[in-house]
Amino acid sequence: MAAGERVGRLPVAAEIALASAAGAGAFATAAVAFADIDSVIVAAFLGAAFLLAVIAIARFASVAYAVPVGMAGLLAFDWFYLAPTHPLEFPDSANLVDLIIYLAGAVLLGVLSAHAVERAAAAERARGEIADEQAALRRVATLVARGVAAGELFAAVATEAGTLLDVHGIRIARYEDDTELVHVAEWSEPGHDPPSSYDRAGLEGMNVSAEVLGTGRAVRIDNYQDIVVRARSARVSDLKSVVGAPVVVEGRVWGVMIAWSMSGLLPGDTERRLTDFAGLVATAISNTDARTELIASRARLVAASDEARRRFERDLHDGIQQRLVSLALELNLAEAVAPRENAELAARLGHVRQGLTGALDDLRELSRGIHPAILSEGGLVPALKALARRSPVPVELRLSVGERLADQVEVGTYYVVSEALTNAAKHARASNVEVTAHVRDGRLQLTIGDDGVGGADPARGSGLTGLADRVSALGGTIAITSQPGKGTSLRVELPIVSQ
Ligand SMILES: Nc1ncnc2c1ncn2[C@@H]1O[C@H](COP(=O)(O)OP(=O)(O)OP(=O)(O)O)[C@@H](O)[C@H]1O
Ligand SMILES: [Mg+2]
Repeated sequence: MAAGERVGRLPVAAEIALASAAGAGAFATAAVAFADIDSVIVAAFLGAAFLLAVIAIARFASVAYAVPVGMAGLLAFDWFYLAPTHPLEFPDSANLVDLIIYLAGAVLLGVLSAHAVERAAAAERARGEIADEQAALRRVATLVARGVAAGELFAAVATEAGTLLDVHGIRIARYEDDTELVHVAEWSEPGHDPPSSYDRAGLEGMNVSAEVLGTGRAVRIDNYQDIVVRARSARVSDLKSVVGAPVVVEGRVWGVMIAWSMSGLLPGDTERRLTDFAGLVATAISNTDARTELIASRARLVAASDEARRRFERDLHDGIQQRLVSLALELNLAEAVAPRENAELAARLGHVRQGLTGALDDLRELSRGIHPAILSEGGLVPALKALARRSPVPVELRLSVGERLADQVEVGTYYVVSEALTNAAKHARASNVEVTAHVRDGRLQLTIGDDGVGGADPARGSGLTGLADRVSALGGTIAITSQPGKGTSLRVELPIVSQ
């Protein structure tokens, strides 16, 4: 924190008095120095020493003193050294008035110059601060846009704000049930441990967090020592100045960002600057919420469509399939009672029975395709083997999945392989497809590669896009590599949940 380094300016009256005294002193000193000199070299040497003194005063004290000192020195040189010279004595009243007017002019010029210099320096500092602030906000905004994990982002915001602002520490906390504060992230200046620490804390008593929650606005408390604070540690009384800014998410005060100083008062613009950082925290939370909601809604969609498939399969099995089976039985009866001499009728009935058996087979096949029974009964390995057997393109399988995986992971994997094999047969003109699946570090790693024509483009159909949706709903990743002429390969990683 730079607060202790700030040099306070004197009040203007005191500055004028000091500058006048410095001017008068310089005149008297120069008068004594120049009065009895008869060597030009000594005069030049003295003049140079005086100039150096003026430069040093301007550099290390203020232009407000350097100007009257310099001008008073020049005046003394003219008065006592250059002809016509004046006697070295206290000036008479007419000369004294002249000298005072001259000195007053010099003091005025000095004070005005000092203020101009200071304003220019302040403007330069402010420009630098704004640039630093913009850069820090941009860095945080980039993290928000990249969607980094919430914990990492909050820590980065606290560090950026703490490094940029004139503070000893920054804390981000969120409100729970409007009665408690839960610690989220913190930064403190090296050598200045935070005055209190907590994972959870109540909000009773007079404190910035309770005030921010109550008002929904940035709040400052500069007299921490004077008010009764529910001291979470004795060092709370070390606080001199505290500012809190609300983190507002969708109109609700989600949390608070707090800055504190343990020596001077926090600068007047701390509320505004802290509020800017709190705004980025709010955006990050909204983004994360939206992403989580999106993933959850995709997962719900996939689960709902899997469920619909299962119901449809049941309906087929219990409904139409049963009716066809009983029709086949009736047909057997009809065949049995049909007169043997009517060969044509027997042939027609035989033909119908054949068609009926075929329809039943088709129906069984269809319902298996909708939801593979082999998958729920035997697991991924036999189900993938069945897919490979059915594929018109030869498939090489390398599977090391020893355990049963969660239902949704097995179903997801099955559909990825099924769609990839169908695509290879439909589009790739491939001679071979290789499928590998193994579990490593809690993830199922799946690849399906064909040696076909390549050039797959998810925009041209719905299959690959559907796979990407399914995989992301399961919290996994999918990468499709398919350069023209170089085959197509799908790499999928899914977090597994063992059953
Ligand atoms: N293995 C592959 N080799 C070559 N081209 C492919 C391959 N897989 C997909 N493609 C190309 O990418 C396009 C998109 O594939 P996608 O699976 O999304 O849709 P589709 O197979 O055409 O239709 P469906 O919605 O029935 O899956 C295909 O139309 C095809 O042109
Ligand atoms: Mg397809």
